[in-house]
Amino acid sequence: MRDAAPTTIHLKDYTPFGYLVDEVHLTFDLAPDATRVTSRIAFRPNPEAPGHRFFLHGEELRLIRAAIDGAEVTPEITDAGLTCAAPDTPFVWEAEVEIAPAANTALEGLYLSNGMYCTQCEAEGFRKITYYPDRPDVMSTFTVRINGTHPVLLSNGNPVDSGEGFAEWHDPWPKPAYLFALVAGDLVAHSDRFTTVSGREVDLNLWVRPGDEDKCAFGMEALKKSMRWDEEVYGREYDLDVFNIVAVDDFNMGAMENKGLNIFNSAAVLASPETSTDDNFERIEAIIAHEYFHNWTGNRITCRDWFQLCLKEGLTVFRDAQFTSDLRSAPVKRIRDVIDLRGRQFPEDQGPLSHPVRPESFQEINNFYTATVYEKGAEVIGMLKRLVGDAAYAEALDLYFARHDGQACTIEDWLKVFEDVTGRDLAQFKHWYSQAGTPRLTVEEAWQDGTFTLTLSQDTPATPGQPDKLPQVIPVAVGLLNPNGDEVHATEVLELTQARQSFSFEGLAARPVASVLRDFSAPVVLDHDLSPEQRAFLLAHDTDPFNRWEAGRSLAGQCLLDMIIEGTAPDTAYLDGLVAVLRDDGLDPAYRALMLGLPSQSELAASLQQRGLTPDPQAIWDATETLRQATAQHMQDLLPRLRAEAQVDAPFRPDADQAGRRALGSATLALLSRLDGGAQAAADFTRADNMSLQLSSLSCLLKAGKGEVELAAFYDQWRGDRLVIDKWFGLQVAMAAPGQTAETARRLSAHAEFNWRNPNRFRAVFGALAMHHAGFHHASGAAYQLLADWLIRLDPVNPQTTARMCAAFQTWRRYDEGRQALIGAQLDRILAQPNLSRDTTEMLTRIRG
Ligand code: ARG
Ligand code: ZN
Repeated sequence: MRDAAPTTIHLKDYTPFGYLVDEVHLTFDLAPDATRVTSRIAFRPNPEAPGHRFFLHGEELRLIRAAIDGAEVTPEITDAGLTCAAPDTPFVWEAEVEIAPAANTALEGLYLSNGMYCTQCEAEGFRKITYYPDRPDVMSTFTVRINGTHPVLLSNGNPVDSGEGFAEWHDPWPKPAYLFALVAGDLVAHSDRFTTVSGREVDLNLWVRPGDEDKCAFGMEALKKSMRWDEEVYGREYDLDVFNIVAVDDFNMGAMENKGLNIFNSAAVLASPETSTDDNFERIEAIIAHEYFHNWTGNRITCRDWFQLCLKEGLTVFRDAQFTSDLRSAPVKRIRDVIDLRGRQFPEDQGPLSHPVRPESFQEINNFYTATVYEKGAEVIGMLKRLVGDAAYAEALDLYFARHDGQACTIEDWLKVFEDVTGRDLAQFKHWYSQAGTPRLTVEEAWQDGTFTLTLSQDTPATPGQPDKLPQVIPVAVGLLNPNGDEVHATEVLELTQARQSFSFEGLAARPVASVLRDFSAPVVLDHDLSPEQRAFLLAHDTDPFNRWEAGRSLAGQCLLDMIIEGTAPDTAYLDGLVAVLRDDGLDPAYRALMLGLPSQSELAASLQQRGLTPDPQAIWDATETLRQATAQHMQDLLPRLRAEAQVDAPFRPDADQAGRRALGSATLALLSRLDGGAQAAADFTRADNMSLQLSSLSCLLKAGKGEVELAAFYDQWRGDRLVIDKWFGLQVAMAAPGQTAETARRLSAHAEFNWRNPNRFRAVFGALAMHHAGFHHASGAAYQLLADWLIRLDPVNPQTTARMCAAFQTWRRYDEGRQALIGAQLDRILAQPNLSRDTTEMLTRIRG
């Protein structure tokens, strides 16, 4: 499919396009096997980039006719696009191409999902629709006519005309082609209206397949909340007469912010109490907000080139996190985000796929929609805000919108508004965008004559292509507690700018306990050598909710590492501290549920590796099981009381309060099931009237080696609901014992309902397999082989999803030689496949190292 020598694109090679586009007119004559796309595009030479050849991207297109100013031309065509002689004065380009949406299984460009036409153009999918300068710095207005028999025909912008078999749309806001969208199908709308702050009436529609109407209400409410929030918090108003959202079953990612026509993976928008868990609700609310917020951070102000992806993604993730914190619980959101960062971004940053928040080169840009660009990108914005303060942040954002509206920008433009507003030099801060790797922050303490001194040092390990690192600006939020538990020094942000630096606190009556990196003020690995007693003290007294949780987490982590390394018994300091926190009914149930969590097994493996040890996945599993069992026994008397506090008596609402109770209920049930063999879980399953309870009780049963009857009942109840059946597939893999995980995944992949071409279904099984640490890394190597078999099968069909799943292997160098040999053999086997996609080739080559 692809040529043998892939080309690498470099940030430093950026040059503007030689032409400006004033207007785009597109006509689509829809047909599954031969859709005709007619384009009429007004070009004029770009005065800032004179003398360039006229090159248009285009892939997998059949060119039927091309003309310049009405005169037919014969361009030179390659796999990547076409070149043509063009005048050095304004001209009109016309082209007619044919494409085959029904044959498009890669889900990029125009494709069919359950008979419905839809598009995904970010990052470089528009070039599979027609010949065009498919780069984000080329912006134009679009007018689109769709000819088709489908009842619903949608594109970007405002509707201008429609009738029997056609619809016409006009988007007045200049945009790059990656924000183009088209949808045609037999869809029904859940509709509402929104009046913007200045009085603009906006029609809101959430379009779904008939049968899904009852899963729209929550998404619509989330949309209206997002629109209001962006007005109130960022002063950003919506700018079209309509806002359409469409749910699509076959989608590579979560969702896409196309101007005025957001397209969502149905899993990221459809919700009902019977079919969605509380986590689903929260995620859906956040994704709706995320895509809506892109209207300003992404669409009105877009990216100059794809290296600047974090400009829109980091900022928009940061904004959606602020939104969730405002609507729900800020500490709970922060803790969940840090768990996610450590679970997905740290392994990436600390392994062969490590890359800066702003990468400097790529072969396939789709491989850089990563946790580093998104989540670390958001952390970088959080640090910037912490350093300049809330007021300066707000001022800088106002300036950003005022100065750059309608432009395609860079990280330099972004930092410049902060420099102009604050007068600060952000040259050193910029290293956060260019240096890969997770800095390690080491804390040393000294105490003398009433002065407490913290010496902070930073060190960022070498990463691929970056052997040496410069010190970064690290905002370290610190508070001090008295031995009696009172706070003697409120949170202060220390600015660490050197490799090693000391900060003193004077006039203290007694040696304090330091609470360092409060609110996780920087995405670093903290190395603060506290005793178990000090950690237990912070767990009991820290006024910073994040660090209080973190104290419990690190106690648990230390306890598990001791069990794994020394074979010791579970530490009672941890168990007693945990019981004390769980007893405190003044604490939010959601927060207490988080307290019951343990560091993930993959995180423990990373900690062992950082101590120079080789992690044994089975030993990590065993220690975790032992600690869980000990926790259940230690908390036995408390469990009934926690269950009572977790009880929800009111009718179901997917809000933070009820979700928190259910989370505590589910964490408690998991412990109880270790003591009663699943009796309570079986009862809960029978009475469950919402998906959270149904799924958590079923998972307890499976964990206990039971639940066969319930699993079958669940399947029968939900066989018509594809999103719930995804859960049914995933749960069985997730709950399997390590020795059974690969076999469970294999058995499920032979199930009649395992439609592997659907990314959600594929990920339900194989994503769960990759996430099951002890199961995936079982010494037999069966899981490695099974995953490789399926990646080989999926790659020709859907390179993007295949390449993403390759990340399952990114931590392979952590493990013993035997496992490395097993994984290495699978990586080589995949790489040896003829015609392997550019996406997968790049990922595996980087992982192989
Ligand atoms: N811009 C979208 C979002 O973050 C993600 C689209 C990514 N698509 C892709 N094929 N890489 O909301
Ligand atoms: Zn985004």
